[in-house]
Amino acid sequence: MNIEDAKKAVAKEALKFIEDEMVVGLGTGSTTAYFIRYLGKLIMEGDLEDVYGVPTSYQSRLLAIESGVPVVSLDEVDAIDVAVDGADEVDPHLNLIKGRGGALTMEKIVEYRAGTFLVLVDETKLVENLGQKMPVPLEVIPPAWKAIAEELEVFNAEATLRMAANKEGPVITDNGNFILDAKFSRIDDPLDLEIELNTIPGVVENGIFADIADIVLVGTSGGIKRMER
Ligand code: 5RP
Repeated sequence: MNIEDAKKAVAKEALKFIEDEMVVGLGTGSTTAYFIRYLGKLIMEGDLEDVYGVPTSYQSRLLAIESGVPVVSLDEVDAIDVAVDGADEVDPHLNLIKGRGGALTMEKIVEYRAGTFLVLVDETKLVENLGQKMPVPLEVIPPAWKAIAEELEVFNAEATLRMAANKEGPVITDNGNFILDAKFSRIDDPLDLEIELNTIPGVVENGIFADIADIVLVGTSGGIKRMER
């Protein structure tokens, strides 16, 4: 199975978790994009009723609207039944690194509150230790970026300011902030580091999602593997 087929397969499988009258957290990224499209098709064809999506980014909001998923914001709902999102790394304990798409803050807000947080990945995302391949993104208040980058050296991390591809200068998040990508030499305790990074003044949120994923669906060449806590 190639990577795109693996993403499509887990996105289809995720539909089995959605029932009528559910509020669904809509993650960000290419894998979740397949899920949003498939969800919209079921809603448009009348196979699912009274399902609402809570987007985690402008990307997921625009795609949900285009695909026929009715959109509501977090402050309009009492609860989120299921949140569905991709990840950049998944360790054997279901700790995650997220935020390649820069939407980590709203993703964590929504996914933390979901009854079930379902993660969709292909097998290239599985790692033994977080930080093995990917940096940890931090959303930061713009004027603080340099001071925070320097402070991260204390953690043995090398931080770079994420630059935009189709605009001059840095990436600006949906919340109007910058992103620092911090490459750690080793992450021994993801929960501890997640909490510690958020104590640095100017850090809005970081991309370690420790202890919040409930189920991970992994698209592999041998089919879909399910990891659960
Ligand atoms: C966006 C994210 C994405 O979920 C993560 O980067 C995975 O994306 P993709 O499914 O495109 O590989 O955290 O902020």
